[in-house]
Amino acid sequence: MCMQDLTRSGPPSPQEPLSIAAMFGRIAHRYDLLNRLLSLGFDRSWRERAAELAALRPGDWALDVCTGTADLALALAPRVGPTGRVIGVDLSLPMLTVGQRKAAGRSDGRQVALHLGDALRLPYRDGTFNAAASSFAGRNVADLGRFFSEMARVVRAGGRVVFLELGEPSRWGLRHLYRWYFHRLAPLIGGLISGEREDYRYLPQSVEAFASPEAIARLMEDADLRDVRYVPLMRGIAGVWVGKAG
Ligand SMILES: C[S@@+](CC[C@H](N)C(=O)[O-])C[C@H]1O[C@@H](n2cnc3c(N)ncnc32)[C@H](O)[C@@H]1O
Repeated sequence: MCMQDLTRSGPPSPQEPLSIAAMFGRIAHRYDLLNRLLSLGFDRSWRERAAELAALRPGDWALDVCTGTADLALALAPRVGPTGRVIGVDLSLPMLTVGQRKAAGRSDGRQVALHLGDALRLPYRDGTFNAAASSFAGRNVADLGRFFSEMARVVRAGGRVVFLELGEPSRWGLRHLYRWYFHRLAPLIGGLISGEREDYRYLPQSVEAFASPEAIARLMEDADLRDVRYVPLMRGIAGVWVGKAG
């Protein structure tokens, strides 16, 4: 792929990981602010719930896959304590740079290390971590089956794989209101604040095109994860899937 492709504007296709990384590079400076605004501040509590479901203990090692600006990594850090370690991995250097700045400003940020790397070829040995988690990234990866296999591979037997993603509310009325907000208002707000309206059109499209909760659970089971369960958050606007490795 030539450089021109990487820097063009417009919504990327999930089959183009470098184009995805370029898109997040463009919006990195406003990513956190827009997450807070567009989720009405709920994204933080959803990540906290995911971090809780990772069932980590002091001294554990945890991996945040597609860490972006490291919000989930920073939610995991207090759970592993000063003797533990959290590694966040992502393809986008500008997103990691924002995350690094945030980690440097927090006392428990010392436990967090951020690496440049591909979720579909994680640069870690089998069984390195006590848990692996990921938030709001599954819609962006080209091969979700491989994404889960890689997470399962790097987690020790019995450790948890946790996946947090946006969804669509199960109730008809709420779903319509949500679609209006997500398709009309969110791209407008996202475009005004980031200057990249097309990239914020991609957000609702990617949620709508994403797999159902049952299909995600099946993919996790196919990746040899066991006891997979789905925990809906706010009537399905978001959800957490949890499985055990080994
Ligand atoms: C929507 S952001 C989510 C960031 C963060 N996890 C959060 O909770 O805000 C998706 C992130 O996935 C990263 N990403 C997409 N495909 C990737 C891949 N194959 N390997 C590593 N990172 C990837 C992007 O660079 C971006 O930072």
